[in-house]
Amino acid sequence: MEAMEEKFTRTDYCGNFRISDVGKEVSILGWVSKIRKLGSLMFLDVRDREGYLQVCIKPDEIEVPDIRNEYVVEIKGTIVKKDVPNKNLATGEVELLASSVKVINKAVQPPISTQENTDANEDIRLKYRYLDLRRNCMQKRFKVRANIVKAVHEYLDAHDFIEIETPYLAPSTPEGARDYLVPSRIHHGQFYALPQSPQLYKQMLMVAGFERYYQVARCFRDEDLRADRQPDFTQIDVETSFLNQDQILTLGEGLVSNIFKKVLNYDVKLPLRRMDYLEAVNKYGSDKPDTRYSLYLIDVKDILSKSEFNTYKENKYVKAIKVDGYAKELSRKKQDQINLIAPKFNMKQFGYFKFENGALEGSLVKFLNEEVQKELIERMELKDGDALIVGTTSILRDLNFGLGAVRTTLAKELKLVIPNTFDLLWVVHFPLFEKSEETGEITPCHHPFTRPCDEDLDKLETEPYNVYSYAYDIVINGYEAGGGSLRIYDQDVQREIFKVLGFTQEDIDRKFGFFVEALKYGTPPHGGFALGLDRLTMILSGTDNIRDVIAFPKNLSAVCPVTNAPLSVDEAQLKELGLKVIEEK
Ligand code: AMO
Repeated sequence: MEAMEEKFTRTDYCGNFRISDVGKEVSILGWVSKIRKLGSLMFLDVRDREGYLQVCIKPDEIEVPDIRNEYVVEIKGTIVKKDVPNKNLATGEVELLASSVKVINKAVQPPISTQENTDANEDIRLKYRYLDLRRNCMQKRFKVRANIVKAVHEYLDAHDFIEIETPYLAPSTPEGARDYLVPSRIHHGQFYALPQSPQLYKQMLMVAGFERYYQVARCFRDEDLRADRQPDFTQIDVETSFLNQDQILTLGEGLVSNIFKKVLNYDVKLPLRRMDYLEAVNKYGSDKPDTRYSLYLIDVKDILSKSEFNTYKENKYVKAIKVDGYAKELSRKKQDQINLIAPKFNMKQFGYFKFENGALEGSLVKFLNEEVQKELIERMELKDGDALIVGTTSILRDLNFGLGAVRTTLAKELKLVIPNTFDLLWVVHFPLFEKSEETGEITPCHHPFTRPCDEDLDKLETEPYNVYSYAYDIVINGYEAGGGSLRIYDQDVQREIFKVLGFTQEDIDRKFGFFVEALKYGTPPHGGFALGLDRLTMILSGTDNIRDVIAFPKNLSAVCPVTNAPLSVDEAQLKELGLKVIEEK
């Protein structure tokens, strides 16, 4: 006799039943989320990936097995109208009157709550991630993520793009972060690097003549983690040939607006604003400005250098932010809190002024004569009750980014952003080089293959820091959601850039000789961009924690709390790889 195979029946997902289903005989499969007993009745909330359905059981009429939370059940019965609808549930107008209840599998008491609103701390939630992910609010985010990828495939397929995979076991790529290395068993002492992005491969695909490439690519970067950074993350990586910057931006914003439309049914107004890098940093104190609120950085050096306060006279730059109606709230304690930002940007503290009852107040007012005060009030357009926060340094970058950090902190505190609104723009015209914060040496802002602006080519050797590039970022709600550039296809320009960066021929040969070689054989003009899929998902699903949109993320110490990776390995494995671990003292 043939063995009977188990069969489980489901008419529809729990979360999908509505008033129109009343009277239907149905079967559901799911997890028991809540159990209540009311007189002779028993009520269960049963959960599956689409939501919750209340089940009513009459133990007097049917056989009821032992049921606990998180048991896996199959319940059959009739959908009936509820006397009192539950407004909190999509299925709240109906319930399932059970005719049979079967326990498919038992569960031990879960160590974390699987209720939608949990106050469990993140560490323990990440350890039991498979339970944490049972919550519908978490599952929704992964649907957003999947729908974004679907919208990407649709759009890029329709625009003639070819999806091509590139290796994960790769040489080091020049994205500027530290590499994750993979030791070779066959070649002891030699390492692959997990790619920080498919940058060099996608450029070689342009040399190969594919013209329009894309890939949903996993990238690996060993860098300090933050709320919007993971060591392994995913890019929607795009490269094209024969398009200029404007055509690439049009394509990129078309892709992003298609994502917003398909995933949220939200219409992004195109074309997106293109903001010059210098405007972004000077006015908003950030190369990824959130332009939904004002709090602009305003230059007041010319006014405050006429004060008797030496710091304002001596420092090259003085800028201020006006905060509407903030005078009353700007206590000493608040000022101390805001001052914590200053040292991160090489400043001691900020200066504070209040405009109340038609007069400027604050400990520094005594250094400002009447004329200076008047000019300051006019420049900053102060109204009664407003506050001013003033920063000063001799390094413009520190001042801008420092006040930029004050700006975003205040916006959060004062809830200046209306939830569920979106602010999209391109920041363009980035500098080609910057001074490395670690070494103080000249380094590419983006990567060494970024094309300098034609009009700046003659400044490459003489004033490299004043050379700008065809590089751009797409900024959404103050996040860098993606970035890219046109690439150098002229061999002479490429040689010159290497020279400015101080690369010797040996460096070039060792680091990317293969790539420089490829560029010799008829390279088309090309460029592209990469969108951060994780960041896009965060933004579209309304969370500010990247770990919420990654199924099994690393914690801030780069550890996977579910598996505890990274882990030590057997001595035999190390031997095979020709490696020896030096114990930390
Ligand atoms: P870039 O380094 O700007 O460009 O990366 C592109 C986008 O990837 C996302 N991103 C990250 N997301 C999560 N965690 C991280 N650690 C992380 N690092 C980057 C951001 C970012 O905008 N090869 C180029 C692209 C190109 O020029 O075509 C590149 O990788 O959203």
